Amino acid sequence: MKNRNISHYPPDEWKIIEEIFNPDMIPRNETIFALGNGYIGMGGDYEETSNFFHRSTYLNGFYESEPIIYGEAAYGYAENRQTILNVTNGRIIELFVDNEPFDLSTGTILRYKRSLDMKNGQLIREVLWQSPSGKRIEIRVIRIVLFNYKHLAAVSYSVRSTDKDAELILKSCLDGNVRNQSRDSDPRIGTSFDGQILKHQTTILDGTGATIRHVTKNTHFNLVCSMENQLATRCHYTVKTEQSENQAAVIFSIDAGKGEKIELSKYIAYYTSLDDHDDLIFLAQDEVRLAKERGFQYFASCQHQFLNTFWEKSDIHIEGDIAVQQGLRFNLFHLLQSAGMDGKTSIPAKGLTGEGYEGHYFWDTEIYVLPFFIYCNPHTARKILEYRYRILDKARQRACIMSQKGALFPWRTITGEETSAYYPAGTAQYHINADIIYAMRKYIDTVGDLDFLKASGAEMLFETARFWVSLGDFIPGKDNRFCLNCVTGPDEYTAVVNNNTYTNLMAKENLEYAVKIAAWLKKNDPGEFKRITGKIELLESEIDEWKKAAEGMFIHFDKEHGIYAQDDSFLTKAVWDFPGTPEDNYPLLLHYHPLVIYRHQVLKQPDVVLAMFLQGNRFSTAEKKRCFDYYDPLTTGDSSLSPCIQSIAAAEIGYTEIAYDYFMKTARMDLDDINGNVKYGVHTAAMGSTWLSLVYGFAGMRDYEGRLYFNPRLPEPWKRLRFRLIVQGRSLEIDIGKESVVYTLHSGPDFSITHRGTETLISTGKQVKVDISPKIEAVIFDLDGVITDTAEYHYQAWKKLSDMLKIPFDRKLNESIKGVSRMDSLNILLKHGGKVFSNEEKQVLTDSKNEYYKSLIKDITHGDLLPCIDALLKDLRAEGIKIAVASVSLNAEEVIKRLQIEDLIDFRVDPSVVVKTKPDPEIFLIAADKLNIPYRNCVGIEDAEVGIKAIKSAGMFSVGIGKQLKDADWSIKDTTELTLSGLKEHWA
Ligand code: G6P
Ligand code: MG
Repeated sequence: MKNRNISHYPPDEWKIIEEIFNPDMIPRNETIFALGNGYIGMGGDYEETSNFFHRSTYLNGFYESEPIIYGEAAYGYAENRQTILNVTNGRIIELFVDNEPFDLSTGTILRYKRSLDMKNGQLIREVLWQSPSGKRIEIRVIRIVLFNYKHLAAVSYSVRSTDKDAELILKSCLDGNVRNQSRDSDPRIGTSFDGQILKHQTTILDGTGATIRHVTKNTHFNLVCSMENQLATRCHYTVKTEQSENQAAVIFSIDAGKGEKIELSKYIAYYTSLDDHDDLIFLAQDEVRLAKERGFQYFASCQHQFLNTFWEKSDIHIEGDIAVQQGLRFNLFHLLQSAGMDGKTSIPAKGLTGEGYEGHYFWDTEIYVLPFFIYCNPHTARKILEYRYRILDKARQRACIMSQKGALFPWRTITGEETSAYYPAGTAQYHINADIIYAMRKYIDTVGDLDFLKASGAEMLFETARFWVSLGDFIPGKDNRFCLNCVTGPDEYTAVVNNNTYTNLMAKENLEYAVKIAAWLKKNDPGEFKRITGKIELLESEIDEWKKAAEGMFIHFDKEHGIYAQDDSFLTKAVWDFPGTPEDNYPLLLHYHPLVIYRHQVLKQPDVVLAMFLQGNRFSTAEKKRCFDYYDPLTTGDSSLSPCIQSIAAAEIGYTEIAYDYFMKTARMDLDDINGNVKYGVHTAAMGSTWLSLVYGFAGMRDYEGRLYFNPRLPEPWKRLRFRLIVQGRSLEIDIGKESVVYTLHSGPDFSITHRGTETLISTGKQVKVDISPKIEAVIFDLDGVITDTAEYHYQAWKKLSDMLKIPFDRKLNESIKGVSRMDSLNILLKHGGKVFSNEEKQVLTDSKNEYYKSLIKDITHGDLLPCIDALLKDLRAEGIKIAVASVSLNAEEVIKRLQIEDLIDFRVDPSVVVKTKPDPEIFLIAADKLNIPYRNCVGIEDAEVGIKAIKSAGMFSVGIGKQLKDADWSIKDTTELTLSGLKEHWA
């Protein structure tokens, strides 16, 4: 991903400010300064008709449809496209000064400032302009799109001729000459239409108001836009109206006295036949007439109040980085502006700021954006889920077209029909079903809205579970596991594969949840259970099938790498030639045929890594780390959905700096136009995931079944991170500093959370402060060669075996098998000696080595502890520092017993649970996780090189016994130097 990380807006906590008029910035600023209320979306172009890029106005869910023309069609392909429409522009106000048009590219700009005020929801422009003939004009325009009044927007246009009298004309228009953007070769921009889609029907002019009605060409939807204008001035003026094809204008001609204030207030309303079946013209006219009576100030204060409440619940405060603070608030503000709140619409991928992705709703909404609304604005979250229920019938039809049972939600749509023309990265992304259910579950668990579950949720849940069972099969060639074949996961650089791990895991959870809710409903509300199962003719036997499919779900784990394979074929492909790919060839999708991309190991965005975040409780930290280490270098980040997930995953495994770097790509992605395409609209999912990255990333929150877990850590540059969550009606504040975190329950009944594995109760109105400062909290010991000199006995035992096998064995070779498991050690020896044995023979050999080793350790006693170890263990105990043993030796338990130090050890890792041995960090991570200590607060002590590697890669402080271990953070000759005070000194 190219990083065009240059900010054009000065740092400001609550505003986005443009300080000069820069024509180059016009396209991008039309997105940045766009206003919306979840229904209306108004581009950030000027009121005058000069200096614009696209001049867009969208209404959420208002679209035109056309048949999709395929070169080669096939059965079941999506039939019609749906494209959000650029509608009547109602915000035009042209100003003429002594007949010269006010135009920023003529005359002289003496002062210019435009700002998006996110506290008040206003776009404000202040200009001092000198006309070509020398009149100085001061202009101040405030634009608002009302959150409380879905159909309404308002503009206050104040103008003053500062030095001389002037003849001013203010021409307030409705303009129906609008078109959608034309598409070039970038599939992400959208598709244009041939000719004019909005057919003019009626224009009504009435005093200071006007109304235009249009109808769409193919779908015959009605669109009405009305305006009312009110002029406030002491100057003399006349008013007239004007009408031309597709335009209506109210024109005020004013004898503007020098310095006299003139203010035009304009109200604009939109109604369509998709909203209402009543008399649209009446509704729109009534709306603007009433608005005119109330006046602009009334609406400005409504807007302020609305946002006050919004920010109180939604704001995240970051101390120490004003650029991030600004980017974050900008993102949250745009999310608010994008979210349909009527239950009939959702959140388009580009918000209401562009035609990119044609105004469609994708999984972006549920996976990337909805968590923010669930935790901060649950009412909006419910509306978004209601939208999914509204299209459930169409999802049932789609499943039927796809020869399946139940319901299949469309990959992209406005009104519920599948509209993706490219099925490999469309319909094949069946995971959207499970994504919707995942988000719904989060909503139900967090909000506790059982009414929604009963009224709509359970039906969606059961129908999607039904779908999975009908899609998959128990395949004999796969050990009779339940397989989902021919699917595409989140990573669109791999398509139509078998057993995409993300899809299988998400489907598994979908099925498990369906089984759980079916049982719960049956027990707790048999009436509702009967109603729902009756409605969808669900048989009890189907629920058993869900259970079997979930339990039998095939999850592809690759033993060799110790990772989950992205799908059945992924690891058998060639790795993409990253070094040979020029920087300009990214994003790959614009430079390579899909087949070229599909046949390589290369990712557009995280896939397995995303699953490991969403279902974190199913994986060990070691698995998460190995998967991140494997997949991250293969991830191009060509999707804007990428860096946030990479950031969250990195934060969890202790890669805090990497997490921060990825976070920075998300936090200001649009404000800094990092992807270079913000002129086509914001990246809603990336905006939503800024919130995810902060809450799930740096605050380390996880939420499973309504319970919250925290493990916070701030990135270096920040001093503090503070935010609120609404959980089951409670208001919880989390305030994270460098040294401590404070949990406050502002309202609602007592609540318990889990902080780093420890259950923590917070009482109403009370705070709980927990220390998170960096300090030694645990020491994890290797055993052989660290606690006792059994490393020497291992040496002797291997030496004896090697002599017998006539393999040369010396101290140097011994170094390379230190810390290595028994069988792996033998393999190293045999390789060294050029010998080959069968598995059975190898078993006999390792057994005989072990017999000899056992005879050597049988006399070990407490006195065999290496120097200073006893004292160190006791000192650690005394200070409350946890102690663990991380050895792959199967004899460790016995050795510890003989040494009589069992009571001093809090936890010993059972080597049989370790999937990947040292140098993989797994064994150390298991120890730390078990002790609930963050890795950075752990110390690992080792006498083997592989051990030091493992400790370091676990993100812990490493102590090396033996001067040859140069990579250790603290390397010592032997244990005689190993004291707690020495450790503390070097750790600091
Ligand atoms: C430790 C030792 C190795 C030994 C391994 C397996 O890591 O450092 O030298 O090979 O444990 O020990 P075991 O007792 O199971 O053979
Ligand atoms: Mg050792």
